[in-house]
Amino acid sequence: METVQFGQHPPAARTIVHLSDTHLLAGNRPLGGRYDTASNLGRTLDAVERLGIRPDALVFTGDLTDLGEPEAYAALRAAVEPVAARLGAPIVWVAGNHDERPALRAGLLGREPSDEPVTGVWDLGGLRLIALDSTVPGWHHGDLDDAQLAWLRGILAEPAPLGTVLALHHPPLPSHIPFFDILELRRQSALAEVLEGSDVRAILAGHLHYSTAGTFAGIPVSVASATCYTMNLQRSPAEVNGMDAGQSFHLVHVYDDTITHAVVPVGDAETADFFTPDWLARMAALSPEERLQAFSRKRAR
Ligand SMILES: [Fe+2]
Ligand SMILES: [Fe+2]
Repeated sequence: METVQFGQHPPAARTIVHLSDTHLLAGNRPLGGRYDTASNLGRTLDAVERLGIRPDALVFTGDLTDLGEPEAYAALRAAVEPVAARLGAPIVWVAGNHDERPALRAGLLGREPSDEPVTGVWDLGGLRLIALDSTVPGWHHGDLDDAQLAWLRGILAEPAPLGTVLALHHPPLPSHIPFFDILELRRQSALAEVLEGSDVRAILAGHLHYSTAGTFAGIPVSVASATCYTMNLQRSPAEVNGMDAGQSFHLVHVYDDTITHAVVPVGDAETADFFTPDWLARMAALSPEERLQAFSRKRAR
């Protein structure tokens, strides 16, 4: 029933699962002395599998491990790869400021360890996905050096059939939380210049541990929260800190004319059971007018 169309828009052409900030530690030591990052990742991956879809990619936008330990990369791989294999989806690993490039390359990509930026290009059935590496070895803020920007410019010179999605760790957006602006992506105007006139339709990022969205150089930017812990935004900006709640990931639906980013909270609250595949099948069997009558008509009270 995946292909029903009850409204004006045909079903999404591509679907990406966007997750971020797994922050695994060797031996699953509690992050910050309080967060069980492996179990929180496990709950998140269970939720991804419960979607019952076959996504075109699983994109992890950085801070894959907390300290760049080889054992933590191995644990991450062991947790995610079987899920990706069952879903038939490629995994896109993006480097974050908590990662270490050599260990990430060796542990996740099976490549020679080196300090070169971890970048990549994927063809998701005509949708191009480009992973940038906004990390600065030895620092927590972000930057894209001239070499990486030139590389990006070269790839974007040729448009892709369904356009391009960029993924990077540090979002090119402001944050209302002061400490995040210290850790921001620097030289954003240089990136904006490269994106000008390109086919980039969306930018996926992480780093903030809360979901937010904005535009950068006219391009929609979507920041996924974290799987490990999230920022408690119920506090004043000066007092925002982490909490072991509110973990989520994003479902990115790529349509011909727009891209949507649905936030999926990870939780086990009891769910109502009105809508079912049978209900959908009954609706699909009706004409558009009958469907409107059956489901849109307000009943007399
Ligand atoms: Fe993070
Ligand atoms: Fe980060």
